[in-house]
Amino acid sequence: MQDYHGKAVAITGAANGIGQELARRFAAAGAQLALADIDADHLDALVKELEEGGAQVLSAVFDVRDYPAMEAFARETFAAYGSVDLFFNNAGVISVGTVWEQPLSDWDWLLDVNVKGVVHGIKAFVPGMIAQDLPCHVVNTSSIAGLLTVENSPAYVASKFASLSLTEVLDLQLQGVGSKVTAHVVCPAVVQTDLDNCLRHRDPSTYDADDPYYRTDDYRARMAVVTGSMPHGLPVVDAVETIITELEKGTFYILTHPAYNPAITGRVAGIVGGVRPTLVAR
Ligand SMILES: NC(=O)c1ccc[n+]([C@@H]2O[C@H](COP(=O)([O-])OP(=O)(O)OC[C@H]3O[C@@H](n4cnc5c(N)ncnc54)[C@H](O)[C@@H]3O)[C@@H](O)[C@H]2O)c1
Repeated sequence: MQDYHGKAVAITGAANGIGQELARRFAAAGAQLALADIDADHLDALVKELEEGGAQVLSAVFDVRDYPAMEAFARETFAAYGSVDLFFNNAGVISVGTVWEQPLSDWDWLLDVNVKGVVHGIKAFVPGMIAQDLPCHVVNTSSIAGLLTVENSPAYVASKFASLSLTEVLDLQLQGVGSKVTAHVVCPAVVQTDLDNCLRHRDPSTYDADDPYYRTDDYRARMAVVTGSMPHGLPVVDAVETIITELEKGTFYILTHPAYNPAITGRVAGIVGGVRPTLVAR
């Protein structure tokens, strides 16, 4: 890993999982950090840990659905550090269900966090990053579910296809204005994190816990697929090692699980061949 002394790194979804490990790695490499999350307890504990290790850390507790709060976070970050070298738009959540049964409120929540939250980060940070006129990077966390469809989590898949494609458009537009900012998209398959516990921080106003669908065998079986897969995922330290290595090489599509590469090329071949998607047994 390169030396990040004198560099500023901002991360959303920093309190757990991939964001937390990114924060630890960049702190160890000397960066000044700006960390945001909805999870105040875990974020405070991380800030304390990193400050005890000698890092300079600014933190903010807010929901990425809240654009004024994201704007304030960006303003405080630029004010504290003068410039932003890396911005990780990383916060994300997951849900499961069939398209025809899943409550519509799940769609609103997923798309608001995983898509509009990413747009909020771009709108709040990128103008300042363009204006500073330095080589710097916006890194959006999509998923392998932004490149391949799985039938368990339709809103998640749709949100991750959206965040991947909007990152492509962002990079094209940055090229179009001759900016020194580059965009990158991270596409992990399963990583051992807290993603399957994301309901714990869901704003109750976005959620009808009594919706009968949540008591069906179908919903429980789909949730079990998510929770059952997490312990078999890539350790978060390994995923983050790949993310940092590829970022430092300038890679646009950062893939952490090469075993899926044949499926990605197979998907493209299937599209041009007009082939129906194949159902994989759960
Ligand atoms: N873990 C995986 O298998 C996996 C695979 C592919 C992509 N991803 C993506 O990686 C990113 C990071 O997730 P993770 O796996 O580290 O999960 P995680 O749950 O361990 O970490 C996500 C963090 O985002 C925060 N967060 C959630 N909603 C928020 C909101 N509305 N506003 C602010 N913060 C919020 C959570 O509190 C948490 O700290 C997500 O975008 C996720 O979709 C994860």
